[in-house]
Amino acid sequence: MPDTPESDDIFTLPALECGAPKSGFPETEILPQAAYQIVHDELLLDGVSRMNLATFCTTWVENHARRLMDESIDKNIVDKDEYPQTAELESRCVRMLADLWNSPDPTATRGTSTTGSSEAAMLGGLAAKFRWRKRGGRGLPNFVCGPVQVCWEKFARYFDVEIRQIPLRGDRLTMHPDDIAAHCDENTIMVVPTFGQTFTGLFEDVAGISRALDDLQARTGLDIPIHVDAASGGFLAPFTAPDLVWDFRLARVKSINASGHKTGLAPLGVGWAIWREAADLPDELIFNVDYLGGNMATFNLNFSRPGGQVVTSYYEFIRLGRVGYTRTQSATYSVAQRLAAGIEKLGPFELVHDGEPLRGIAAVSWRLGGDQTYNLYDLSDRLRTRGWLVAAYPLPADRQDETIMRVLVRHGFSYDMADLLLADMGRALAQLDKHPPSSSLSREESGGFTHSATPRVSTPEIQRRRAERMHTGKPGTQDG
Ligand SMILES: Cc1ncc(COP(=O)(O)O)c(C=O)c1O
Repeated sequence: MPDTPESDDIFTLPALECGAPKSGFPETEILPQAAYQIVHDELLLDGVSRMNLATFCTTWVENHARRLMDESIDKNIVDKDEYPQTAELESRCVRMLADLWNSPDPTATRGTSTTGSSEAAMLGGLAAKFRWRKRGGRGLPNFVCGPVQVCWEKFARYFDVEIRQIPLRGDRLTMHPDDIAAHCDENTIMVVPTFGQTFTGLFEDVAGISRALDDLQARTGLDIPIHVDAASGGFLAPFTAPDLVWDFRLARVKSINASGHKTGLAPLGVGWAIWREAADLPDELIFNVDYLGGNMATFNLNFSRPGGQVVTSYYEFIRLGRVGYTRTQSATYSVAQRLAAGIEKLGPFELVHDGEPLRGIAAVSWRLGGDQTYNLYDLSDRLRTRGWLVAAYPLPADRQDETIMRVLVRHGFSYDMADLLLADMGRALAQLDKHPPSSSLSREESGGFTHSATPRVSTPEIQRRRAERMHTGKPGTQDG
């Protein structure tokens, strides 16, 4: 069709008369409307983010936050001198979070925004590694943890630290204080409890773990710090379980990471790493950048990053305050509890986490009880036909034979949506009962998104290769 004023229908433009460019770099330009339409239409195939109950991240953003994101779209957070007020808002957020998490000196301690909890976790781990070396640590450092998010496996590999994941003994689902001592030695740079486990949503007992490390120190002299991975819990418990002690109220907790883009309610792309006191972040990790005629400390893995997520974090903090966050997060927990009660009533399930704010994040996780003719992957698959993404996956090491399902309840997931999901679950179960699958789906076949990643080379294999290298003193023949 000719590209003339008479034919201004977007779908008659030459650019839309053939498929979208897919491999070689496109040769010619096309009209912005045409390019927009192509991209917009391709994205129709994506899932609906608010029905993605596998993600921890923000999927509902209010209009003022959107406006601030738009107004900040051209601001690079690392240009502190060029955008000093964005830098100032970041510093205020750091002080506010240090206060929220009970740092002994919130106005003087150090912290930073990051791209998410993964970067923040790595910075916490690096600080622990540098402090350990400063104390005279030699050889291969290690850290001790329970079932952790994949960012900790990445930290271990990328920065050559041994990860010591405590297996889930018996019916345990979290790292237990009485298991810790056996895994620590003079090369342990930190213990990492997860405050809001990725698998189940449950909180690990940070205070109990801290006491276990006090006992270890009394017996052996080993003084092992804690870094808390509070990716989701860090923006929940201070408001909905304020008496739960997991943060800098425990002297052993030297650093905390949390995701602003999860329960912090900010749009995607922001996390936070905060240290208990300025001295807990070694100077060797700090690089100065220009700032208002002087300089400002930065300690990030990235250099350039967008500033809007920090600006909107500050907006959320001052808009909601403690009262508003408490109201918002409590509402989310109420929906989680309603959903948990509904799931239990459906019959075949046993709850693992019922959305109780003292036990974990605003999530519900469950397993299939009894002898059923279908599995949770089949159920996940059926729910997908209605647009719901509900993750089903095996438990971590030593309990991989058990499959669980999890719904992450986020701001914007309403009572009504919970009821719609329950109705669809009821229909899916009835269908599966009536037409049992001749052979159930596997995890791979159901293709259920779990908001995680699996390493190509397993951690035991990496450890085997490392041990071989250390034994022979020669570089390995394979990666890792
Ligand atoms: C406990 C925990 N830690 C770390 C992360 C990684 O966070 P991010 O996605 O913000 O990098 C997640 C993500 O789900 C998590 O659940």
